[in-house]
Amino acid sequence: MKGKKFFAAAAGAAMAFTLAACSGEGAGSTDEEPTDGSTAGGGDAVAEGGLVGVAMPTQTSERWIADGDAVEAGLMDLGYEVDLQFANDDIPTQSQQIDQMITNGVEALIIAAIDGTALNSQLEAAAAAGIPVVSYDRLILDSENVDFYVTFDNYNVGVQQATSLLVGLGLLNQDGSEGDAEGPFNIEVFAGSPDDNNATFFWNGAMDTLEPYMADGTLTVPSEQTDFEQAAILRWQQETAQRRMEDLLTSTYVGTDLEIDGVLSPYDGLSRGIITALESNGYEGTVADGFPVVTGQDAEIASVKLISDGVQFSTIFKDTRKLADQAVTATDAFLAGGEPEANDTETYDNGVKVVPSYLLESDIIYQDNIQELLVDSGYWTAEEVESGTAE
Ligand code: BGC
Repeated sequence: MKGKKFFAAAAGAAMAFTLAACSGEGAGSTDEEPTDGSTAGGGDAVAEGGLVGVAMPTQTSERWIADGDAVEAGLMDLGYEVDLQFANDDIPTQSQQIDQMITNGVEALIIAAIDGTALNSQLEAAAAAGIPVVSYDRLILDSENVDFYVTFDNYNVGVQQATSLLVGLGLLNQDGSEGDAEGPFNIEVFAGSPDDNNATFFWNGAMDTLEPYMADGTLTVPSEQTDFEQAAILRWQQETAQRRMEDLLTSTYVGTDLEIDGVLSPYDGLSRGIITALESNGYEGTVADGFPVVTGQDAEIASVKLISDGVQFSTIFKDTRKLADQAVTATDAFLAGGEPEANDTETYDNGVKVVPSYLLESDIIYQDNIQELLVDSGYWTAEEVESGTAE
């Protein structure tokens, strides 16, 4: 858990003053972190920066740690105080953390929800206190009180995942042209957590892309498990994916002539579980030697190393630095009394309203563009890729 000291400044009367202060250019003096509530004398205190609550789902995946750190740093650069919390993928913990943030007088909330439908009462309290809510990466559902959404083009992430699977199988080339392979190929498909709205977007993008190949028999799913519910992995757990892959192999492949050629995986953690299951069932070596093509998402360092070694085939790179930047910009716009700029006002209906969104683009990572997209951009160092661990 990580929390920051902050002023227990009264949100109400001080708010207007804070709004003005926070809309500034992030001049040096606002960077200073107050360390002691006793220095928080009325208006002066909030003039140094209002408090923003940042709720992240978990620290078990490095992307969320990077997201949290980048959002915190961006807000602090603009002179805000930050209360950053991770909830260990536990829904009650996240609800309590947000309740506490509201009690503590946050002026804005940035939330990456664990369960998109579980935060209704927190958001009602936020709205009652006039606190703008930015939904981060994952859309918060079934609530009027979501003011803005920053994310990637999640449908397109799914398209990219399926495209990279087709490239790995040789049905497409990286430039999108038709590949030399003809199939038929045996694949299995995985989806993300059913309580995460993104999981359906990834799934739809991927399955729409694979559908024509399934329809003409180029791709077959021997287990016949092609429904989202069958493929979904609750809370994106690596062990659950490993177990499902082992079950699929045992029930459908082991003791038959069938071999698996590829696996659609929507997240690197799941991919590593899937790879472990494949390896413990006799698949070995690299994709070039015939190891099944396994996709991914997030460009986690352990998976980037596996891609570099030729074992995992691909991942999707979503630059968390850019997402954090957008979240900070949106929050700052609200606290300056304005509205953030959206580039999509149609796609993300949360069940109650269409939430204005800012969507970012993602990239497919293959072995041959790790250097250009991940190392040259400063996301990972060459040493980190080599070792497979973040420094
Ligand atoms: C995010 C993905 C991530 C997954 C598991 C999704 O909501 O968009 O980037 O792989 O959660 O953490």
